Amino acid sequence: MPKKPLPSKTSQITAQPRFHQRAAEIQQYGTVTHALPLELEEPIRLQMTERLNQLLADTMTLRDLYKKSHWQVAGPTFYQLHLLFDKHFNEQVELVDSIAERIQVLGGVSIAMAADVAETTQIERPPRGREEVPVQLSRLLDAHKVIIGETREMARNASELGDDGTNDLLVSEVLRTNELQVWFVSEHLVNVPLVEAKSAKAGAA
Ligand SMILES: [Fe+2]
Repeated sequence: MPKKPLPSKTSQITAQPRFHQRAAEIQQYGTVTHALPLELEEPIRLQMTERLNQLLADTMTLRDLYKKSHWQVAGPTFYQLHLLFDKHFNEQVELVDSIAERIQVLGGVSIAMAADVAETTQIERPPRGREEVPVQLSRLLDAHKVIIGETREMARNASELGDDGTNDLLVSEVLRTNELQVWFVSEHLVNVPLVEAKSAKAGAA
């Protein structure tokens, strides 16, 4: 009597999860998919995704700088800055997602992991330890400056190349959010008296 053939490995149905799987990448970083129904040529999508990945790495770094500041802030303005830094962190989280998904929309590959971000960002690395409030604020403003500069340049570039979706994201979301955050942070660096006006006239009390 002929032996009953064993079911092949691929056709076996089992409740056992398949662990520790690895395979080749389906798309390499730095490439865009060849054809998409976006009416935007491959070289343009390649150029935009490359620049957007730089902006993404810098935005992820600023996002993390806000959380670091949120945790490590000290001094009489602790509570208000603790809250403000977290608000800005959450707004940067939104931007990170918008930029990353724009890269994917254009057929590219978004940078994602901390080690890759650290190798790519143009923002100066802060020390691990705690710093004074004015230093925290200055670092945040320096990071915003990097991002605002590249965003303006990239928005113009996107407009010239006909990538209106990227231009809209850069101007309406990235630029506007960063400009507003710069205002909120920089007002904390204005050296005004807290209790008594410097030019207070005698007799006011
Ligand atoms: Fe928190």
